[in-house]
Amino acid sequence: MLKKNLKEFKENIFDEFAYKWGIVTAGNYQTGFNCLTVSWGGIGILWGKQVAFLFVRKSRYTYQFLENSDSVTISFLNDNYKEAKNLIGTVSGRNIDKVNEAKLHYTYDPDFDGAYIEECDYCFKMKKLYSVDLPTASLDQSIIDRYYPAGDSHTMYVCEIKQFLVKERS
Ligand SMILES: Cc1cc2nc3c(=O)[nH]c(=O)nc-3n(C[C@H](O)[C@H](O)[C@H](O)COP(=O)(O)O)c2cc1C
Repeated sequence: MLKKNLKEFKENIFDEFAYKWGIVTAGNYQTGFNCLTVSWGGIGILWGKQVAFLFVRKSRYTYQFLENSDSVTISFLNDNYKEAKNLIGTVSGRNIDKVNEAKLHYTYDPDFDGAYIEECDYCFKMKKLYSVDLPTASLDQSIIDRYYPAGDSHTMYVCEIKQFLVKERS
């Protein structure tokens, strides 16, 4: 993987999240790792820093790893891995070793003390900066009905992008 400047990031982030989907991995050496597929999120600037915004429900096993560790990555894999991305987004790491099941692999970076998905085209290595439980009280009822009929609201994580890694092309 090549380290790149974020100024070289040229993807359409709307497509990347909505159609390609990302795999968010949280955890460190001590806690271990877990990952989930995400299609909600974005990247931008906050407090003068380059950040990603992630939205994760409390019911996800990955939520516990996000809470207990500062190391977070988001990996974007091409659509040859669509089935793998679907599996990571439909089964819980509580029940099976889904990364192995999806024939994917974690790459652990000891300096960063976090992991990303080896098969990605590119990834962001990030440190958690801030998190907040999204209040639902003031939301439009149609959104509550659609997304929160049983509660289980999202926590928003703001993560500082520390490194942008891109797969080397041969
Ligand atoms: C395309 C797709 C997008 C998803 N986006 C999100 C998301 O943005 N936030 C979230 O909390 N769950 C999202 N999910 C659901 C989680 O990926 C799914 O519940 C996963 O199995 C949780 O795994 P875990 O329990 O091991 O953390 C998405 C699932 C799919 C298939």
